Amino acid sequence: MIIGIVAVDRNGAIGKGGKLPWHYSADMKFFKHTTIGNACVMGYKTWLTLKNPLPNRLNIVLSRQAEIPPQDSLVVMRDIDSVLAMAKVLTTDLFVIGGASVYESFLPHIDKWIVTEVPLTVAGADTFVPRNYLEGFVASGSQQLDDGLIVTSYERPQASA
Ligand SMILES: NC(=O)c1ccc[n+]([C@@H]2O[C@H](COP(=O)([O-])OP(=O)(O)OC[C@H]3O[C@@H](n4cnc5c(N)ncnc54)[C@H](OP(=O)(O)O)[C@@H]3O)[C@@H](O)[C@H]2O)c1
Repeated sequence: MIIGIVAVDRNGAIGKGGKLPWHYSADMKFFKHTTIGNACVMGYKTWLTLKNPLPNRLNIVLSRQAEIPPQDSLVVMRDIDSVLAMAKVLTTDLFVIGGASVYESFLPHIDKWIVTEVPLTVAGADTFVPRNYLEGFVASGSQQLDDGLIVTSYERPQASA
């Protein structure tokens, strides 16, 4: 399954100045336990926000040109078709972990969204989740994390027989 995972503020903001505009350890823990053991695809700018590959996950970095020194559990791919081809042979889920341009590219291929709602309105945010990213999805479950965070899963409705 291809799963988008994102944290959004009340206006759909996800980033500011190339970084996450907040730090919630509850969401970091949730992200870790949800994605661990799976593959994660990210854009080059999001990769730059990590110091190292996410441990115990296959890290796929999308970039048309960047040269990233080889590292354990890191694969650089040049286009989303290559990632989709790899996803077909993966024995794990593929998590699309951002940023905005990568969410946008994968939108038609995402089977499920996991969305953390952050109870903030970030002033000066410059990166947003794609407009209407949840169009065609229905909420399938919700849970509360610490610090007033709410995580909701959204799935595409099954076509009736
Ligand atoms: N709130 C959240 O859940 C969350 C999650 C992740 C990131 N973020 C935030 O989002 C912001 C970054 O988002 P962003 O949209 O600016 O950047 P991004 O998506 O992380 O990275 C953009 C780069 O990825 C590469 N790329 C994207 N689509 C590609 C494609 N289809 N084929 C090949 N390469 C592709 C390109 O790299 P090249 O230019 O090297 O070709 C592009 O410049 C940061 O502020 C980050 O903290 C937030």
